[in-house]
Parts: sequence; structure tokens; C-alpha cells
Amino acid sequence: MSRQLTIAVAGVTGRMGSARHLREALVPLAAEGLRPPDGTEPVRLRLVLVGRDASVLERLAATCGAGWTTDLDAVLADPGVDVYFDARRPDVRPAAVSVALEAGKHVYVEKPLALEAAEAEALAKLSRERGLRTGIVHDKLFTPGYIALRRLLAAGTLGAVVDVRGAFGYWVHDGTDRPAQRPSWNFRREAGGSLIPDLFTHWSYLLELVGRPVAVAALTATHVAERRDERGNAYPVTVEDVAHVLLRLDNGATASVSSSWVERPFTPFTLVVHGLRATAHVTPAGCWITEEAMGDGAPWSDGPVGVWRSVPSPPGYEFRAQWLAFLRHVAFDEPFPWTFASAVRAARLCAAIEASAAVGAWSEVPGDSAPPIHA
Ligand SMILES: NC(=O)c1ccc[n+]([C@@H]2O[C@H](COP(=O)([O-])OP(=O)(O)OC[C@H]3O[C@@H](n4cnc5c(N)ncnc54)[C@H](O)[C@@H]3O)[C@@H](O)[C@H]2O)c1
Repeated sequence: MSRQLTIAVAGVTGRMGSARHLREALVPLAAEGLRPPDGTEPVRLRLVLVGRDASVLERLAATCGAGWTTDLDAVLADPGVDVYFDARRPDVRPAAVSVALEAGKHVYVEKPLALEAAEAEALAKLSRERGLRTGIVHDKLFTPGYIALRRLLAAGTLGAVVDVRGAFGYWVHDGTDRPAQRPSWNFRREAGGSLIPDLFTHWSYLLELVGRPVAVAALTATHVAERRDERGNAYPVTVEDVAHVLLRLDNGATASVSSSWVERPFTPFTLVVHGLRATAHVTPAGCWITEEAMGDGAPWSDGPVGVWRSVPSPPGYEFRAQWLAFLRHVAFDEPFPWTFASAVRAARLCAAIEASAAVGAWSEVPGDSAPPIHA
């Protein structure tokens, strides 16, 4: 193993690329290097920022001592680059990932890997054939609340899980009287936007904590048909802005998950996991558990019903923790379960949801019966 890993980082001018990946994860990790298990000198990390706007890249690179380039093809062809990372728009991702794999790079990506299941499958197959390391962001698993849930499930504290409810979304302004909080491409399928691949890629790995989804029934709608883009121009919305999905998991558990850009949530990214012994209420910030039945005798109350105990959890380093695990997988062959295989399962789930919504009937999710891997 060489004492340096070079990581090409594309999409670094975007919301996720700049804040979550570069500033919160890669810059601190590059400052430390990767400590080998044998205690020898750390492996250095060299960052090369890749994008389209030279002046933005130059400014960004200067803040973190990284190299930069606007020539993606040259970076992907450069034998000195070990890892390609892509946090760009998902519609441009598969082609670059394919070239990177063909060129022998290990690849890590933002989600979704691809908007179509067949594309995700082809990329996973290529990476297997080339013997390359892959990863896709599973950031919610690394938040304090979901770390606590993983521990509860691993310890069997909830008993057998029978039912799961999930909800995530918020109100995205339509851009008329104030700017939208999400880029306009998010609402245009032809520009890589989606609600289902965007959000159900997260739900896929969260549900897998309990069991693999095998069948879905989905109801979707587009309630805000026109929005305004970053320049104030009106455009027609070509993706759903709400999706309600019923699921059957391979262990017999039932689930219902909703995501929406037309809701004002009481709590962020929330999963409620009902086991035969206890129920967990989980958000990224925390996890609460109760064994109470909350039956007829429970008083009405303004806050949570009954007694919920907070489950202790370490601080989460969402993006950084998973980056560290991926880079150690590449450098030292340490285990890393959040690969393109997981991206393929997510893409198949999303395809089944879209198929179900299109025909108004249950749709099966193809796949093998691999056991849940994240708990
Ligand atoms: N893990 C999470 O919680 C999470 C949250 C939000 C977004 N995301 C994902 O992160 C990715 C980026 O989303 P974002 O919100 O940062 O978007 P963004 O619009 O802020 O950034 C998009 C990036 O892609 C680049 N880009 C856009 N069009 C391009 C093109 N045609 N060719 C080359 N580059 C292009 C932009 O220059 C920019 O760097 C998406 O895949 C999105 O699904 C993940």
C-alpha cells in the first residue's frame, strides 16, 4: 500500500459536496491521515477538487490545500488517482462512475447511485468484475439516534420487530415569494430530479435494519405543479412531491413510509420501530424507547404519551464516520458493508415503488434474501 491515497472529489461546489463531504469529512480526515492497524506512519490523503467553474474551485481549493481541475476526463484517466467520489447531480453520475471503474478507481458516491435500477446493477457488476471497492452514502445510520437504534436492534431489546413507520420531508418553498431551499433540478426528472430515488434510497437501508422489503404499494402525487428556479423563472414540476408507501418485509414485518416536500414535520427524519417487547422512536438527533402499552387508561397529553426513556448514544459524525470507514476499507482492507450492492437493492426498491404508483397495485421488489447487514 502506498503511503498516499489521492481522492478526486466531484460535485464539490454543491450543497452536499462542499459542506458535508469536503468541510465536515475530507478536510479533517486529510489533516489526520489514516492510521494503519500496525501503528506505522499514517497514510496521507491528497484531495483533487473537480468541477466546472475554475474560479470557485480555485477559491475552495485554497481554503483546504487541495488541488483542483475542471478536466474530469483527465482526472479519471490519471493513474495517480486512487478514489473517485461523485456528489454531482445523479443523472450525470453513472457515466462518470463507469469510466472511473473502467480506469481502475475505487468509487464512493452520494445517493442515489443511478436513477434506473438497470444502471445501478451494471455499475455494481462492473465493480465486482474489476475487483474494486465501492461505497454509497448511508449517512442517517451514523447519526446519534440511528446509532442508538442499531444498538437496540443488535441487543434484541425491542424483541421481534413487527411493524415500522417512517416519515421524512419538509415544506419546500415554490420560489415565488422566497427562494426554494432545494435546487430546482430536484423537481425536474429530465435534470436528474426525483422524490423516490432521492429519499427512498435512505429508506431502503433504514428498513433493512429490520428486514428486506419484498413488496410495495405506493400512492404518489404532485401537488405543486409549477415552481420557480434560481433565476425566478417558472418551470413545470415533473417529479412527485409526496409518496406514501406500504411495504412487506422478508421477515413478515409490515411497514409504512412517507416522504413529502409538501409537509411541515413535527420531527425530522423519523422512524418508529414496534417490537414485541418495546417500541423505539428515532430521529437523527435521538432515540427514545418505551415498553408501555398506552391503552385505554392513558391520559390525553400535549407531549409524548406515557414514559419514553432516552437511549444514550455517542455523538454522530454522519458523513465523516462513513468516509473514514470507506477509506480504511480501501487502504487496509477493513470491512465495509455499504457498497454498490446496497445501492442496487435501493434502486430495485425505488423501481418497484414507481411501478406500483404507476399501475395502482402491489409490486414485488426483486432480490435475494440476504440477511439485514446494518444492525
Ligand atoms: N445524503 C443526503 O442526506 C443528501 C441530501 C441532499 C442531497 N443529496 C445528494 O447529493 C447530490 C448533490 O445534491 P446537492 O443538493 O448538493 O445539489 P447541488 O445542486 O447543490 O449540487 C450539485 C452539484 O452537481 C454539479 N452539477 C450540476 N449539474 C451538473 C452537470 N450537468 N454536469 C456536471 N456537474 C453538474 C454542480 O456544479 C454541483 O457541484 C445528489 O445526488 C443528491 O441526491 C444527499
